[in-house]
Amino acid sequence: MNATTDIPAPRIDRGCLAALPPTLEWVGGCDGLLRILDQTQLPARVETRTCATAEAVWEAIRSLRVRGAPAIGVAAAYGLCLGARPFRTLAPAAFLAKVGEVGTYLRGCRPTAVNLAWAVRRVTEAAEIQATHGSAAMWEAMLIEAHALAEEDAAICRQIGEAGADLIPDGGGVLTHCNAGALATVAHGTALSLLYVAHERGRRFRVFVDETRPLLQGARLTAFELLAAGLDVTVLCDGAAASLLRSGSVQVVVVGADRIAANGDTANKIGTYGVALAARQHGVPFYVAAPRSTFDRTLDSGADIPIEERAGDEVGVVCGTAVAPAGVRCYNPAFDVTPAEMITGIVTEKGVLKPVTEAGIAEIFRRGG
Ligand code: MRU
Repeated sequence: MNATTDIPAPRIDRGCLAALPPTLEWVGGCDGLLRILDQTQLPARVETRTCATAEAVWEAIRSLRVRGAPAIGVAAAYGLCLGARPFRTLAPAAFLAKVGEVGTYLRGCRPTAVNLAWAVRRVTEAAEIQATHGSAAMWEAMLIEAHALAEEDAAICRQIGEAGADLIPDGGGVLTHCNAGALATVAHGTALSLLYVAHERGRRFRVFVDETRPLLQGARLTAFELLAAGLDVTVLCDGAAASLLRSGSVQVVVVGADRIAANGDTANKIGTYGVALAARQHGVPFYVAAPRSTFDRTLDSGADIPIEERAGDEVGVVCGTAVAPAGVRCYNPAFDVTPAEMITGIVTEKGVLKPVTEAGIAEIFRRGG
Protein backbone atom coordinates (compact mmCIF):
# COMPACT_ATOMS: atom_id res chain seq x y z
CA MET A 1 0.00 0.00 0.00
CA ASN A 2 1.24 3.51 -0.81
CA ALA A 3 1.68 5.24 2.54
CA THR A 4 1.20 8.72 1.08
CA THR A 5 -2.28 8.28 -0.44
CA ASP A 6 -5.19 10.12 1.08
CA ILE A 7 -8.23 8.15 2.08
CA PRO A 8 -11.66 9.69 1.56
CA ALA A 9 -14.43 9.07 4.09
CA PRO A 10 -17.36 7.04 2.75
CA ARG A 11 -20.51 8.76 1.51
CA ILE A 12 -23.40 7.24 3.35
CA ASP A 13 -27.05 7.34 2.31
CA ARG A 14 -28.90 8.27 5.49
CA GLY A 15 -32.40 7.88 4.08
CA CYS A 16 -35.22 9.91 5.57
CA LEU A 17 -32.92 11.39 8.26
CA ALA A 18 -30.48 13.00 5.83
CA ALA A 19 -31.53 16.46 7.05
CA LEU A 20 -30.06 15.79 10.53
CA PRO A 21 -26.30 15.91 11.16
CA PRO A 22 -24.83 12.38 11.02
CA THR A 23 -24.57 10.48 14.31
CA LEU A 24 -20.84 10.29 13.61
CA GLU A 25 -18.60 10.83 10.62
CA TRP A 26 -14.93 11.10 9.75
CA VAL A 27 -14.14 14.53 8.39
CA GLY A 28 -11.08 14.87 6.13
CA GLY A 29 -8.52 12.38 4.91
CA CYS A 30 -5.54 10.91 6.75
CA ASP A 31 -5.27 14.06 8.86
CA GLY A 32 -9.01 14.01 9.59
CA LEU A 33 -11.10 14.04 12.77
CA LEU A 34 -14.16 12.28 14.12
CA ARG A 35 -17.24 14.52 14.26
CA ILE A 36 -20.18 13.38 16.38
CA LEU A 37 -23.65 14.70 17.01
CA ASP A 38 -23.62 15.44 20.75
CA GLN A 39 -26.62 13.43 21.94
CA THR A 40 -26.44 14.78 25.48
CA GLN A 41 -27.76 18.08 24.06
CA LEU A 42 -30.75 16.62 22.19
CA PRO A 43 -33.51 17.47 21.65
CA ALA A 44 -32.92 21.07 22.83
CA ARG A 45 -29.79 21.70 20.78
CA VAL A 46 -28.45 20.08 17.63
CA GLU A 47 -24.71 20.43 18.26
CA THR A 48 -21.77 18.60 16.83
CA ARG A 49 -18.38 18.06 18.47
CA THR A 50 -15.09 17.02 17.00
CA CYS A 51 -12.77 14.47 18.56
CA ALA A 52 -9.08 14.63 17.64
CA THR A 53 -7.73 12.09 20.12
CA ALA A 54 -8.58 8.67 21.51
CA GLU A 55 -9.14 10.38 24.87
CA ALA A 56 -11.78 12.66 23.36
CA VAL A 57 -13.53 9.66 21.78
CA TRP A 58 -13.37 7.78 25.11
CA GLU A 59 -14.99 10.74 26.86
CA ALA A 60 -17.68 11.05 24.16
CA ILE A 61 -18.60 7.37 24.49
CA ARG A 62 -18.41 7.31 28.28
CA SER A 63 -20.63 10.37 28.67
CA LEU A 64 -23.10 9.10 26.03
CA ARG A 65 -22.48 11.94 23.59
CA VAL A 66 -22.28 9.07 21.14
CA ARG A 67 -24.12 5.95 22.27
CA GLY A 68 -25.95 2.83 21.08
CA ALA A 69 -24.03 -0.38 20.44
CA PRO A 70 -23.25 -0.04 16.70
CA ALA A 71 -22.38 3.67 16.94
CA ILE A 72 -20.09 3.00 19.90
CA GLY A 73 -18.29 0.37 17.82
CA VAL A 74 -17.68 2.67 14.87
CA ALA A 75 -16.69 5.58 17.14
CA ALA A 76 -14.15 3.35 18.88
CA ALA A 77 -12.79 2.22 15.49
CA TYR A 78 -12.09 5.85 14.61
CA GLY A 79 -10.84 6.51 18.14
CA LEU A 80 -8.27 3.77 17.66
CA CYS A 81 -7.11 5.42 14.40
CA LEU A 82 -6.79 8.76 16.18
CA GLY A 83 -4.92 7.26 19.12
CA ALA A 84 -2.49 5.36 16.88
CA ARG A 85 -1.85 8.20 14.42
CA PRO A 86 1.01 9.90 16.35
CA PHE A 87 2.94 6.59 16.38
CA ARG A 88 3.13 6.01 12.61
CA THR A 89 6.87 6.69 12.61
CA LEU A 90 7.62 3.80 14.99
CA ALA A 91 8.76 0.40 13.78
CA PRO A 92 5.84 -1.99 13.08
CA ALA A 93 6.19 -4.00 16.31
CA ALA A 94 6.30 -0.85 18.44
CA PHE A 95 3.39 0.63 16.47
CA LEU A 96 1.31 -2.51 17.05
CA ALA A 97 2.10 -2.35 20.76
CA LYS A 98 0.70 1.20 20.82
CA VAL A 99 -2.39 0.07 18.88
CA GLY A 100 -2.87 -2.63 21.52
CA GLU A 101 -2.59 -0.09 24.35
CA VAL A 102 -5.07 2.33 22.81
CA GLY A 103 -7.42 -0.56 22.00
CA THR A 104 -7.39 -1.76 25.61
CA TYR A 105 -8.06 1.76 26.80
CA LEU A 106 -11.04 2.20 24.45
CA ARG A 107 -12.46 -1.26 25.17
CA GLY A 108 -12.65 -0.40 28.86
CA CYS A 109 -14.83 2.61 28.23
CA ARG A 110 -18.26 0.92 28.34
CA PRO A 111 -18.42 -2.80 29.09
CA THR A 112 -21.79 -4.09 27.88
CA ALA A 113 -22.04 -3.36 24.14
CA VAL A 114 -19.85 -6.00 22.51
CA ASN A 115 -19.67 -3.99 19.26
CA LEU A 116 -16.98 -1.86 20.89
CA ALA A 117 -14.50 -4.72 21.43
CA TRP A 118 -15.50 -6.25 18.07
CA ALA A 119 -14.73 -3.03 16.16
CA VAL A 120 -11.42 -2.49 17.99
CA ARG A 121 -10.42 -6.04 17.10
CA ARG A 122 -11.27 -5.58 13.42
CA VAL A 123 -9.25 -2.37 13.12
CA THR A 124 -6.33 -3.93 15.02
CA GLU A 125 -6.35 -6.95 12.70
CA ALA A 126 -6.31 -4.63 9.67
CA ALA A 127 -3.05 -3.16 11.00
CA GLU A 128 -1.57 -6.58 11.75
CA ILE A 129 -2.17 -7.80 8.19
CA GLN A 130 -0.09 -4.90 6.82
CA ALA A 131 2.82 -5.40 9.24
CA THR A 132 5.34 -6.15 6.50
CA HIS A 133 4.56 -2.82 4.76
CA GLY A 134 5.54 -0.49 7.58
CA SER A 135 3.64 1.49 10.19
CA ALA A 136 2.35 4.25 7.90
CA ALA A 137 0.68 1.63 5.68
CA MET A 138 -0.61 -0.17 8.78
CA TRP A 139 -2.23 3.03 9.98
CA GLU A 140 -3.82 3.66 6.59
CA ALA A 141 -5.22 0.13 6.64
CA MET A 142 -6.78 0.93 10.02
CA LEU A 143 -8.51 4.02 8.68
CA ILE A 144 -9.74 2.11 5.63
CA GLU A 145 -11.13 -0.57 7.95
CA ALA A 146 -12.85 2.02 10.17
CA HIS A 147 -14.48 3.51 7.05
CA ALA A 148 -15.54 0.01 5.98
CA LEU A 149 -17.13 -0.53 9.40
CA ALA A 150 -19.06 2.72 9.07
CA GLU A 151 -20.26 1.88 5.58
CA GLU A 152 -21.17 -1.68 6.54
CA ASP A 153 -23.08 -0.55 9.60
CA ALA A 154 -25.35 1.67 7.52
CA ALA A 155 -25.91 -1.06 4.91
CA ILE A 156 -26.54 -3.75 7.53
CA CYS A 157 -29.00 -1.58 9.44
CA ARG A 158 -30.94 -1.02 6.23
CA GLN A 159 -31.00 -4.80 5.64
CA ILE A 160 -32.30 -5.32 9.20
CA GLY A 161 -35.14 -2.91 8.43
CA GLU A 162 -35.98 -4.69 5.20
CA ALA A 163 -35.86 -8.10 6.89
CA GLY A 164 -38.25 -7.07 9.65
CA ALA A 165 -40.53 -4.40 8.19
CA ASP A 166 -43.40 -6.85 7.68
CA LEU A 167 -43.59 -7.36 11.45
CA ILE A 168 -44.92 -3.81 11.75
CA PRO A 169 -48.73 -3.85 11.58
CA ASP A 170 -50.49 -1.46 9.21
CA GLY A 171 -52.94 0.53 11.31
CA GLY A 172 -51.58 -0.85 14.59
CA GLY A 173 -49.26 0.17 17.41
CA VAL A 174 -45.60 -0.54 18.11
CA LEU A 175 -43.77 -0.12 21.43
CA THR A 176 -40.05 0.50 21.68
CA HIS A 177 -37.66 1.17 24.56
CA CYS A 178 -34.53 3.35 24.65
CA ASN A 179 -33.07 4.42 21.30
CA ALA A 180 -32.14 1.79 18.73
CA GLY A 181 -32.43 4.20 15.83
CA ALA A 182 -30.30 6.20 13.45
CA LEU A 183 -28.82 7.99 16.47
CA ALA A 184 -27.52 4.67 17.80
CA THR A 185 -25.92 3.61 14.50
CA VAL A 186 -24.22 5.19 11.50
CA ALA A 187 -27.61 5.32 9.75
CA HIS A 188 -31.14 3.86 9.85
CA GLY A 189 -30.93 2.16 13.25
CA THR A 190 -31.78 -1.41 14.18
CA ALA A 191 -35.23 -1.58 15.82
CA LEU A 192 -36.26 1.74 14.28
CA SER A 193 -35.02 0.66 10.86
CA LEU A 194 -38.01 -1.72 10.74
CA LEU A 195 -40.29 1.25 11.35
CA TYR A 196 -38.62 3.45 8.74
CA VAL A 197 -38.83 0.75 6.06
CA ALA A 198 -42.44 -0.13 6.96
CA HIS A 199 -43.35 3.58 6.77
CA GLU A 200 -41.57 3.87 3.41
CA ARG A 201 -43.64 0.91 2.20
CA GLY A 202 -46.82 2.80 3.02
CA ARG A 203 -47.73 1.25 6.36
CA ARG A 204 -49.19 3.66 8.89
CA PHE A 205 -48.92 2.89 12.60
CA ARG A 206 -48.51 4.54 15.94
CA VAL A 207 -45.14 4.32 17.71
CA PHE A 208 -45.18 4.29 21.51
CA VAL A 209 -41.82 5.22 23.02
CA ASP A 210 -40.87 4.49 26.64
CA GLU A 211 -39.15 7.59 28.02
CA THR A 212 -36.34 5.29 29.31
CA ARG A 213 -35.19 6.51 32.68
CA PRO A 214 -32.69 7.54 33.87
CA LEU A 215 -31.17 9.21 30.81
CA LEU A 216 -34.33 9.46 28.73
CA GLN A 217 -33.00 8.09 25.45
CA GLY A 218 -36.59 7.28 24.44
CA ALA A 219 -38.11 10.69 25.15
CA ARG A 220 -35.10 12.72 24.03
CA LEU A 221 -33.69 10.73 21.13
CA THR A 222 -36.17 8.19 19.76
CA ALA A 223 -39.04 10.68 19.74
CA PHE A 224 -36.73 13.26 18.14
CA GLU A 225 -35.66 11.09 15.23
CA LEU A 226 -39.05 9.48 14.62
CA LEU A 227 -40.71 12.90 14.49
CA ALA A 228 -37.99 14.13 12.11
CA ALA A 229 -38.83 11.19 9.84
CA GLY A 230 -42.55 12.01 9.95
CA LEU A 231 -43.82 9.08 12.04
CA ASP A 232 -46.70 9.17 14.52
CA VAL A 233 -45.03 9.22 17.97
CA THR A 234 -46.33 9.02 21.54
CA VAL A 235 -43.97 9.12 24.55
CA LEU A 236 -44.92 7.39 27.79
CA CYS A 237 -43.40 6.96 31.24
CA ASP A 238 -41.66 3.61 31.61
CA GLY A 239 -44.18 2.71 34.28
CA ALA A 240 -47.05 3.06 31.78
CA ALA A 241 -45.75 0.35 29.42
CA ALA A 242 -47.40 -2.62 31.18
CA SER A 243 -50.89 -1.11 31.16
CA LEU A 244 -50.40 0.05 27.57
CA LEU A 245 -49.56 -3.53 26.60
CA ARG A 246 -52.68 -4.76 28.41
CA SER A 247 -54.83 -2.16 26.61
CA GLY A 248 -54.52 -3.80 23.18
CA SER A 249 -53.06 -0.66 21.56
CA VAL A 250 -49.74 -2.38 20.84
CA GLN A 251 -49.41 -5.32 18.45
CA VAL A 252 -45.64 -5.68 18.55
CA VAL A 253 -42.64 -4.62 20.68
CA VAL A 254 -39.29 -4.02 18.95
CA VAL A 255 -36.09 -3.17 20.81
CA GLY A 256 -32.36 -3.15 20.08
CA ALA A 257 -29.56 -5.04 21.83
CA ASP A 258 -26.13 -4.38 23.30
CA ARG A 259 -24.98 -7.98 23.50
CA ILE A 260 -26.62 -11.30 22.66
CA ALA A 261 -25.18 -14.49 24.17
CA ALA A 262 -24.86 -17.78 22.26
CA ASN A 263 -28.23 -18.97 23.62
CA GLY A 264 -30.06 -15.77 22.61
CA ASP A 265 -30.24 -14.10 26.05
CA THR A 266 -30.14 -10.39 25.24
CA ALA A 267 -28.73 -7.41 27.13
CA ASN A 268 -30.38 -4.10 26.31
CA LYS A 269 -31.19 -0.85 28.08
CA ILE A 270 -32.42 -1.18 31.66
CA GLY A 271 -36.17 -1.71 31.65
CA THR A 272 -36.23 -3.91 28.55
CA TYR A 273 -36.70 -7.04 30.63
CA GLY A 274 -39.74 -5.52 32.34
CA VAL A 275 -41.25 -4.68 28.95
CA ALA A 276 -40.64 -8.27 27.80
CA LEU A 277 -42.35 -9.64 30.93
CA ALA A 278 -45.38 -7.44 30.37
CA ALA A 279 -45.48 -8.26 26.65
CA ARG A 280 -45.45 -11.98 27.41
CA GLN A 281 -48.19 -11.60 30.02
CA HIS A 282 -50.43 -9.84 27.48
CA GLY A 283 -49.59 -12.00 24.45
CA VAL A 284 -47.77 -9.24 22.52
CA PRO A 285 -44.85 -10.45 20.35
CA PHE A 286 -41.47 -9.15 21.54
CA TYR A 287 -38.71 -8.77 18.91
CA VAL A 288 -35.06 -7.80 19.20
CA ALA A 289 -33.36 -6.23 16.15
CA ALA A 290 -29.56 -6.37 15.99
CA PRO A 291 -26.67 -6.89 13.60
CA ARG A 292 -24.47 -10.00 13.87
CA SER A 293 -21.75 -7.79 15.41
CA THR A 294 -23.91 -7.61 18.57
CA PHE A 295 -23.78 -11.37 19.17
CA ASP A 296 -21.13 -12.66 21.54
CA ARG A 297 -21.04 -16.40 21.01
CA THR A 298 -18.13 -16.74 23.44
CA LEU A 299 -20.71 -16.34 26.22
CA ASP A 300 -23.03 -19.28 26.88
CA SER A 301 -25.81 -17.23 28.41
CA GLY A 302 -26.85 -13.78 29.54
CA ALA A 303 -25.57 -14.52 33.05
CA ASP A 304 -22.05 -13.93 31.67
CA ILE A 305 -22.78 -10.53 30.09
CA PRO A 306 -21.04 -7.70 32.00
CA ILE A 307 -23.60 -5.10 33.00
CA GLU A 308 -22.41 -1.52 33.21
CA GLU A 309 -23.29 0.19 36.48
CA ARG A 310 -23.34 3.97 36.15
CA ALA A 311 -23.13 6.78 38.69
CA GLY A 312 -26.05 7.00 41.11
CA ASP A 313 -26.58 10.68 40.46
CA GLU A 314 -27.96 9.81 37.02
CA VAL A 315 -30.95 8.45 38.98
CA GLY A 316 -31.05 10.97 41.82
CA VAL A 317 -30.63 14.11 39.73
CA VAL A 318 -32.94 14.95 36.81
CA CYS A 319 -31.97 17.78 34.46
CA GLY A 320 -29.73 19.28 37.13
CA THR A 321 -32.36 19.08 39.90
CA ALA A 322 -32.08 16.64 42.81
CA VAL A 323 -35.13 14.37 42.89
CA ALA A 324 -33.94 12.15 45.74
CA PRO A 325 -32.68 13.17 49.18
CA ALA A 326 -29.01 14.12 49.31
CA GLY A 327 -26.84 11.16 50.23
CA VAL A 328 -29.39 8.41 49.44
CA ARG A 329 -27.93 5.34 47.69
CA CYS A 330 -29.08 4.88 44.09
CA TYR A 331 -29.11 1.66 42.03
CA ASN A 332 -28.20 2.40 38.42
CA PRO A 333 -27.49 -0.60 36.17
CA ALA A 334 -27.47 0.67 32.58
CA PHE A 335 -28.70 -2.62 31.07
CA ASP A 336 -30.65 -5.76 31.90
CA VAL A 337 -30.89 -9.19 30.33
CA THR A 338 -34.03 -10.62 28.73
CA PRO A 339 -33.98 -14.43 28.60
CA ALA A 340 -34.11 -15.95 25.10
CA GLU A 341 -37.36 -17.79 25.80
CA MET A 342 -39.14 -14.45 26.23
CA ILE A 343 -38.00 -13.19 22.83
CA THR A 344 -40.35 -14.00 19.94
CA GLY A 345 -37.62 -13.45 17.34
CA ILE A 346 -34.37 -11.69 16.55
CA VAL A 347 -34.23 -9.62 13.36
CA THR A 348 -30.74 -9.58 11.85
CA GLU A 349 -29.31 -8.57 8.48
CA LYS A 350 -29.62 -12.25 7.56
CA GLY A 351 -33.34 -12.48 8.29
CA VAL A 352 -35.67 -13.11 11.22
CA LEU A 353 -34.60 -15.84 13.62
CA LYS A 354 -37.73 -17.38 15.16
CA PRO A 355 -37.81 -19.13 17.56
CA VAL A 356 -34.60 -18.00 19.24
CA THR A 357 -32.39 -21.05 19.71
CA GLU A 358 -28.65 -21.60 19.97
CA ALA A 359 -28.74 -23.70 16.77
CA GLY A 360 -30.65 -20.96 14.93
CA ILE A 361 -28.08 -18.37 16.01
CA ALA A 362 -25.23 -20.59 14.81
CA GLU A 363 -27.03 -20.93 11.47
CA ILE A 364 -27.28 -17.11 11.11
CA PHE A 365 -23.47 -17.03 11.34
CA ARG A 366 -23.09 -19.72 8.67
CA ARG A 367 -24.93 -17.52 6.16
CA GLY A 368 -22.48 -15.77 3.85
CA GLY A 369 -21.49 -12.09 3.79
O1 MRU B 1 -26.76 3.47 27.13
P1 MRU B 1 -27.07 3.52 25.67
O2 MRU B 1 -27.88 4.69 25.27
O3 MRU B 1 -25.83 3.34 24.81
O4 MRU B 1 -27.98 2.23 25.42
C1 MRU B 1 -28.42 1.94 24.13
C2 MRU B 1 -29.29 0.76 24.03
O5 MRU B 1 -29.56 0.08 24.99
C3 MRU B 1 -29.76 0.38 22.66
O6 MRU B 1 -31.02 -0.20 22.71
C4 MRU B 1 -28.77 -0.62 22.05
O7 MRU B 1 -27.46 -0.16 22.15
C5 MRU B 1 -29.08 -0.92 20.63
S1 MRU B 1 -28.70 0.43 19.58
C6 MRU B 1 -29.02 0.00 17.97
